[in-house]
Amino acid sequence: MKELKVLAVVVFFSLLVYWGVEPFAHGQMHKHVDGDKFAYSDLPEITKEGDAANGGNLVMGAGACLGCHSIESQGMPAPMDAGTAAASYGVNPPDLSNIGALYDEKFLAALIKNPAHALNVEHKFDPAAGKMHPMVAFYGAGGDIDQEVADMVAYFKSIAPKELSAKEAFDNACGRCHAMRYDKYTQLGDTPEFKYEKDALAYQIKVLEYQDHLKAYMGKLPPDLSIIIRARSAHFLETFVENPQTQLPGTSMPRVGLSKEGYEKVEAYLTEIGDPSKPKREALGPWVLGFFVIFSILAFLWKKYQWRDLH
Ligand code: HEC
Ligand code: HEC
Repeated sequence: MKELKVLAVVVFFSLLVYWGVEPFAHGQMHKHVDGDKFAYSDLPEITKEGDAANGGNLVMGAGACLGCHSIESQGMPAPMDAGTAAASYGVNPPDLSNIGALYDEKFLAALIKNPAHALNVEHKFDPAAGKMHPMVAFYGAGGDIDQEVADMVAYFKSIAPKELSAKEAFDNACGRCHAMRYDKYTQLGDTPEFKYEKDALAYQIKVLEYQDHLKAYMGKLPPDLSIIIRARSAHFLETFVENPQTQLPGTSMPRVGLSKEGYEKVEAYLTEIGDPSKPKREALGPWVLGFFVIFSILAFLWKKYQWRDLH
């Protein structure tokens, strides 16, 4: 009986210390952000039925998307190389082939009408003060603008691939700003193998020049994300990407507008590169627990056996 009481006291204080160190201290140091599960409930719903064929005409025509973006899957190349684009806009506008599979459709509609608002960077871009976002807003092609925008979103959904790899998702949503050193990936994409040192150096200079433009645009160079998956909790990353302003008020990183599935792809890539042993580790877990269970049973039987004559 006495032993049980001692045990209860020990267990109580252990739990108290654990709670004080983990959930409590953690909660004090990091503000808890609930997140919106990628619902973007501040953005209006699309109320019109989109017509993909008309949307295609608008994207190539009055929408002017091709003035800055490529749609490679449809054979439409970028109007300029990444370096020139970064010199003009601060960053290379992403290819639009996959956006219908990656981004939330309400977000896409809001982005086309008002980029700074959808991207949540109105604190940086204020048309009244002459500070325009580099992506120009679509002001309509003469008809009902909500219908025209719904048509364009329908077009992007119609050309989007059914399956997208984790890396393609990262490349489209984050790759214009963030490098992944561990995957030899920079803001210019996968680093090619060079036979001659001087070609490798020339390429490196192009990367540095791109990064200079990006730094000027963002106020700082966005960090390399190779090990971010180990440095930050899954909850932090998810809520941060969903809306960077919740965790870093005033930051220049835009809300990228990923759908939940799109975010899961990006997270899978970050895990694949930054924490490749995670699946193995998780598979090992049940075995380790099983070992402890069997070991405890054996230890208990052994004790009983040793003490059998003393009782
Ligand atoms: C004048 C150039 C320009 C035009 C025209 C333009 N964009 Fe963009 N777009 C940009 C730039 C620059 C960015 C990157 C902005 C940033 O990352 O801060 C961008 C980003 C995007 C993104 C990625 C947003 C995200 O969430 O990460 C999408 C999607 C997009 N544009 C779609 C379109 C569509 C659709 C059109 C046509 C209706 C269009 N753009 C017209 C320059 C342009
Ligand atoms: C238009 C450029 C841009 C895009 C696109 C972008 N980021 Fe960022 N990101 C930044 C900048 C700038 C910072 C630095 C923020 C700061 O310190 O204010 C940053 C910071 C971060 C951080 C560090 C937060 C911290 O303090 O620990 C993470 C994580 C991150 N980004 C993830 C992503 C992911 C994932 C994507 C793609 C889904 C993405 N970013 C897309 C510009 C961008």
